[in-house]
Amino acid sequence: MQALILGATGAIGRTVAAELARSTEVERLWLAGRNQARLEWLLDVLSGDPSRISAHAFDLHDGALRDRRFRELSPDLVISCAGPARQLELPCARAAVEVGASWLSSANDHVAAESIPALDAPAVAAGVTVVSGCGLSPGLTNLLVALAAQELDEVEEIEVATTRSARDPAGQAALAQLLIGLSGPAPSIADGRRISEPGPKASHLVYFPEPVGWVETFAGASPEITTLVSRWPGLRLLRWRVGLVEKPAMDALRLLAGGPWATRFANWGPAASRALQQALSAWPSAGPAWSAARVDVRGQADGRPRSVSLGVVDHLVNLTALPLVAAASELAAGRTEPGVRAPERAFEPKSLLARIGRRGVRIARLEPYLV
Ligand SMILES: NC(=O)c1ccc[n+]([C@@H]2O[C@H](COP(=O)([O-])OP(=O)(O)OC[C@H]3O[C@@H](n4cnc5c(N)ncnc54)[C@H](OP(=O)(O)O)[C@@H]3O)[C@@H](O)[C@H]2O)c1
Repeated sequence: MQALILGATGAIGRTVAAELARSTEVERLWLAGRNQARLEWLLDVLSGDPSRISAHAFDLHDGALRDRRFRELSPDLVISCAGPARQLELPCARAAVEVGASWLSSANDHVAAESIPALDAPAVAAGVTVVSGCGLSPGLTNLLVALAAQELDEVEEIEVATTRSARDPAGQAALAQLLIGLSGPAPSIADGRRISEPGPKASHLVYFPEPVGWVETFAGASPEITTLVSRWPGLRLLRWRVGLVEKPAMDALRLLAGGPWATRFANWGPAASRALQQALSAWPSAGPAWSAARVDVRGQADGRPRSVSLGVVDHLVNLTALPLVAAASELAAGRTEPGVRAPERAFEPKSLLARIGRRGVRIARLEPYLV
C-alpha cells in the first residue's frame, strides 16, 4: 500500500504512523501535517528509510494546495487523523476520491458524518472505498454492535456509551470534538422517531469493562446515529452517551459545553485547548486513566427478547489508532467493496475485532442491564 496520513503529527496520527512505518504491507508512507518542525521530529523518531517514508507540510484548508499535493503523491489510501473533522472531512475525502485513493478516517463529528454519503457514487465510479469514522466511536462501537446483532434475529434497540479518563493522553482535537459533541442537542431515536435530546442534562450510570467500572454518562452527538440507522432502519431506540471517568472534570466540561463559547472552541487554537486539557487532567482521578466503550443491543432471538452487551477497554490512542491500522490493511488487501461504507459494512466485524484484540485491546462480553 502507498498511504498518506493526514494529521500525522497529532496524538492519533503519530500512533498510526508508528504502526504503519513498521508494517511490511506499506511500500510508501507520506506523513502530512501543518508543522514542519513536528513532522521532522516524527521522521527522526520513526527513523525509516527516506525513500520509503517522507514528510509534507501543508494546510488542508488550502484546497488548491491540498489537491495539488494529493495529485503529486498519488496515494492509493489516504488515512485522515486530522481534526476537529467538521470542516475537513468532506472536502478532503472528496479530494482523495478524485485522485483514485480510498479514504479512511478517525472522524467523530456527527455533522460531517451526514455529508459523507454524497461521495458514494463518485467512490463507486472511481473503484475506491470511503470509510469515515473508524476509530473508537464511531468505529469499534459499530463493529461491536454488528457482532452483537449476529446473535439476534431482529435488532430493535441500540445503546452506545463511551468514556475516557481526563488523564488518558489524547490530542487537543479529540478534546475539542468532545466539547462540540456535548454542546448542542443530542440526536437520538425514541419510539422509532428521530428526536433531539436537550444537551448533556440528565445523567445515566453505565458500567464499562474493568478497570473503568461505573461512569456517569450524558447524551451527546456522534456519527453512530447516522451510520447505525442506515444499517438498521427500523430501530425503536438508538442513543449515544459519553462521560469522563472523573466526575468533577465532566461537570466542568458540561458547564463549558452549555456556554455560548463552546461551538467556537475548536477555533480557539492550541493554547486554549492545551489549557483546558491541563485543567481537566489536574483533577484527582477516581480510578485508572483508561478509556472504554460499551454497546447494548436488544431485539429478538428464537421468538424471545434477548439482549447482548459488549465492551472494549484500553488507552484512547490505541482504541482509535489500532482499528485504523487494521482497516488500512483490509483496504490494502482489496477485501472491501467500492463506495461509502460504515465500518461494520466495510469489514467483517469478528475478524477485525480479533485482529485488534491480538494487539492487546481488551474486548469483553458484559452482563446486560435488567430492562
Ligand atoms: N473516533 C474516535 O473514537 C476518536 C477518538 C479520538 C480522536 N478522534 C478524532 O481524531 C482526530 C485527531 O485527534 P487527536 O487527538 O490526534 O488530535 P491532535 O493531537 O490535536 O491532532 C490533530 C492533527 O490534525 C492536524 N490538523 C488540524 N487541522 C489541520 C489543517 N487545517 N491542515 C493540516 N493538518 C491539520 C494537526 O496538525 P498540526 O500539528 O499542524 O496542528 C494534527 O496533526 C480528531 O478529529 C478527533 O476528534 C476520534
